[in-house]
Amino acid sequence: LLTLPKERGWLASHIYNYQGFWIAPRHLQGVIACQQQFQAQDSDIILVTSPKSGTTWLKALVFALVNRIRFPFSEQNHPLLVNNPHDLVPFLELKLYIDGQVPNFSSFTSPRLLSTHLPYGSLPKSVQHSKNKLVYLCRNPRDIFISLFHFTNNLRIENMGTNSIEEMLDLFCKGVSLYGPFWNHVLDYWKKSIENPKKVLFLMYEEMKEQPEIQLKRLAEFLGCSFSIEEEKSGVVDEILKMCSFENLSNLEVNKNEKLSTGEENKVFFRRGKVGDWKNYFTLEMTEKLNHIIEQKFQGSGLLFE
Ligand code: A3P
Repeated sequence: LLTLPKERGWLASHIYNYQGFWIAPRHLQGVIACQQQFQAQDSDIILVTSPKSGTTWLKALVFALVNRIRFPFSEQNHPLLVNNPHDLVPFLELKLYIDGQVPNFSSFTSPRLLSTHLPYGSLPKSVQHSKNKLVYLCRNPRDIFISLFHFTNNLRIENMGTNSIEEMLDLFCKGVSLYGPFWNHVLDYWKKSIENPKKVLFLMYEEMKEQPEIQLKRLAEFLGCSFSIEEEKSGVVDEILKMCSFENLSNLEVNKNEKLSTGEENKVFFRRGKVGDWKNYFTLEMTEKLNHIIEQKFQGSGLLFE
């Protein structure tokens, strides 16, 4: 248990270290219940991220991709136009086990689309051992940190004022961030994606921004639902990307004015959606501090964060 001084809070006045990662107290019960009760199916698709890596975007993309026959994009009430992606692809540990209740999966059609922020070693055993697919989305830690800074200040549930950016960076560099240390989270999934590329696909937010078509096709191939030549000719790839773009999703009524079933306002998941926003916030000192830790932690891994 780490008690955070007021000005250093991350959503709450203290956080737990559980199985080597950091977690907000209100989420611990859900994590334990999910580890004990969740039974994976071989056909499950589980999306994994460290918070603020672009989870909302990935959920939208995978939902649109996997359901492209069931829900054509011409439909005015396409689920993505009237729901926040987090309500379509729930977190294993945050939503389904509220109050320790065993979730009812009977309404989920196969393949079930689920997500998690859990580190690899803390995934429910059945997820680690069944043939389900894991899609991991990674993002430059500098942008994650800035996104997290805004997110936690927006969502503060206790009246504790605003987090100081320098103090939050200090904690982040010490590994204290939600589901962090960030580098352990990334490196564990990165290694698994190399060891077992059929089970874990490792995507980068920056590459998805730069080459969205290539990355979406990679995702489709990995999930066993590649685009046919006819689909490519008829522009389905582009339709999915447009439907899930930051501009489209963030301007939908549902994402501007409504709340998630877990209580958060939908709009907190859409801020700028850009690569490199950290440059607008970091001082030289902050840049050097984070560069140093990134270099130290990712050295020799083959992962580069420009
Ligand atoms: P910024 O705060 O940098 O804008 P998560 O979904 O994991 O909580 O991550 C949120 C981050 O993803 C936010 O980053 C948010 O703006 C961005 N984001 C949300 N939807 C997006 C989309 N459709 N395309 C690209 N980025 C998106």
